[in-house]
Amino acid sequence: MSTPATYETILVEYADGIATITLNRPDSLNALNLTVLEDVTAAASAADADDGIRAIILTGAGKAFAAGADIKQMSSLDFATAYRKNWFAGWSRLDDVSKPIIAAVNGFALGGGCELAMMADILIASEKAKFGQPEINLGVLPGMGGSQRLTRAIGKAKAMDLCLTGRMMDAEEAERSGLVARVVAHDSLIEEAESIAATVASKSLIASSMVKEAVNVAFETPLQQGLAYERRLFHASLATNDQSEGMAAFVEKRKPDFTDS
Ligand code: CAA
Repeated sequence: MSTPATYETILVEYADGIATITLNRPDSLNALNLTVLEDVTAAASAADADDGIRAIILTGAGKAFAAGADIKQMSSLDFATAYRKNWFAGWSRLDDVSKPIIAAVNGFALGGGCELAMMADILIASEKAKFGQPEINLGVLPGMGGSQRLTRAIGKAKAMDLCLTGRMMDAEEAERSGLVARVVAHDSLIEEAESIAATVASKSLIASSMVKEAVNVAFETPLQQGLAYERRLFHASLATNDQSEGMAAFVEKRKPDFTDS
C-alpha cells in the first residue's frame, strides 16, 4: 500500500487496505466543480491501481455529501462549451474502477451529489442524509445520471416525483425506496462504512470484482444475455486459486486465505 497523493478538493487516506476519499469543500457544501471531478476520479483510479487497496469509501466533510454540481461555476456555462467539452462525461471514469466503492452519505446528496452517490456500489446513509434531484429548480435537468440511475434504482414513480418537483427525500424514504442499502446513526456512519469495507476487503478481490461486473451488467443487458454473462463469469471463477481455496476452506471448516489469484 503506497502513500496517497494530496489533492486540492479532497482528502485521501489509506488504512487497513481501505482508501477513504472525503470531498472537502464544506464551505460550498462540497459542490462538484471541475477540480473535484479531476481529484475524485484520479484518487479513485489510483486506489484501484494500488495492490494494497481492496475497497474505497467515498464521503463528504461537513453537513453535505455534495449539494450538486457547482452552480456558481455552471452559471456562465453555455451550450457550445458544455457540448464541445462533453460536460460531466469525465465522471464516467468512475465506472472503470473495478474495486468496490462504498458511498457513505453524511448529509445533503443533491443533484450531482445524489448522482455521484449512485455511481458507488454500496450506498449507506446517515439518518441525517437528504437526497434529491433539484435541477428543475434551476431551469435544467439532471446531467450526471439522475434521470437514468435514479429511475433504475427507485422506479419511475419516485424518480419522476423527485426530478419534477425537486423535493428532497430523507434517509428513511431513500432506504424504503431502494436507493440506499442501510441507514445508520449519524455518528457511526464512517465506522459502519469501514466495517462494510473491511468485510468486502476480506473476500477474494477477483470474486468481488466479478460480482461488481456482473451486477452492473444487469443494468445494460436483457435478462437472458445477463444470465449468460453471469454464467460465463462463474465458469471463469473456477479457474482461480481463490475458488480452490474458498471451497477447500469450507470443506475443512477453516477460514479461507485468499491470494487474489
Ligand atoms: N453549487 C455551488 N455552491 C453551492 C451549492 C452548489 N450546488 N450548494 C450550496 N452551495 C453554497 C452556497 O451558495 C453557500 O455559499 P455562500 O456561503 O458563499 O453563500 C454555501 O454553499 C452554503 O449553502 P447554503 O447557505 O445554501 O446552505 P443551506 O443549509 O441554507 O442550504 C441547500 C442547503 C438546501 C443544500 C442549498 O445550499 C441548496 O439548495 N443548494 C443547491 C442544491 C442544488 O440545486 N443542487 C443541484 C445543482 S445542479 C446539478 O447538480 C446538475 C447535475 O445534475 C450534475
